Amino acid sequence: MTDVDTLRADLTAAIDGAGDLAQLDEVRVRALGRKGAITGAMKQLGGMDPDARREAGQALNALKDEVAGAIEAKKRVLERAAMAERLEAERIDVTLPARPERTGRLHPISQTMEEMVAIFADMGFTVAEGPDIEDDFHNFTALNIPPEHPARQMHDTFYLPGRPAAEGQEAHDIVLRTHTSPVQVRTMQSVEPPIRVVAPGRTYRSDYDMTHTPMFHQIEGLVIDETTHMGHLKGCLMEFVRAFFGIDDLPVRFRPSFFPFTEPSAEMDIGCGRDGGELKIGPYGDWLEILGCGMVHPRVLEMCGIDSTRYQGFAFGMGIERPAMLKYGIPDLRTFFETDLRWLKHYGFLPLDVPSLARGL
Ligand code: PHE
Repeated sequence: MTDVDTLRADLTAAIDGAGDLAQLDEVRVRALGRKGAITGAMKQLGGMDPDARREAGQALNALKDEVAGAIEAKKRVLERAAMAERLEAERIDVTLPARPERTGRLHPISQTMEEMVAIFADMGFTVAEGPDIEDDFHNFTALNIPPEHPARQMHDTFYLPGRPAAEGQEAHDIVLRTHTSPVQVRTMQSVEPPIRVVAPGRTYRSDYDMTHTPMFHQIEGLVIDETTHMGHLKGCLMEFVRAFFGIDDLPVRFRPSFFPFTEPSAEMDIGCGRDGGELKIGPYGDWLEILGCGMVHPRVLEMCGIDSTRYQGFAFGMGIERPAMLKYGIPDLRTFFETDLRWLKHYGFLPLDVPSLARGL
């Protein structure tokens, strides 16, 4: 046997014998590494006469390829075996019941958002999203709130360090979105009407007291087509609040209001009672404001690239915390964000109880 044959036999046996990936790597280093057997044999070629060198060189190169190939093949086998072993070891029985002492809870805000989305989904709305970190254009300008407009002060905006100006453009301000209305803009910019979306999410305003937290949640609604009018807006929102609170005869009323991005604008109140200092939702003669809404301003449609002579529609925006507090009897807003596990255990929801109109919210 030539030296090459001996080497081949040795290395092949070592590769076959490697029981795991670490051992196989040792074999690889021993054969092909800088101080490996094949590498070493190749270094000796220099001292041979030309004919012998050519022959031995070819044989060693062939051996090198062969060994590298064998190591690769063995590596795949070992990897597959390792994976099979791991799958076997990590097998879990998904049919086992959850351990009750370990079940997590859905935060009431998540639950409420899911309930609201379920009601609107039933009416044919899909869910749209936008970023929490917005630019001035989407949060204000495209919503018909130009710079210097007093509405900007009302929003107590958190401004972030500005983005440097692109060539030939003004540097623009980056903000934490003060409402979910910028998702209206993003949706109109990216999809052709007809549009029918809701956009739940986080919103931010620099405000903190009994009834305000700097981060809170809203759900936005937007319907754009050729025929939708204020009557549809009223019917849609009336259906919504009655389904959400589960009160079929819940009275509603619409009061004229102002938002720069809707015309006409309205605020919607729902019936309530305030007997003995306790707030109760229902037909008890008193009123509670719950959301802002209106017909999308033609200027907003145009700024979002939609032909306002052809399309029209409505939008609304509603806070999520207050309806959640009213529906689930949570007395203090700030406890929502204190991440107290005892609170979450008390007010939270089981994650597998997915809200739906058919099964109940
Ligand atoms: N964005 C408004 C707010 O935060 C609510 C709103 C949304 C009003 C859509 C009209 C239409 O107060």
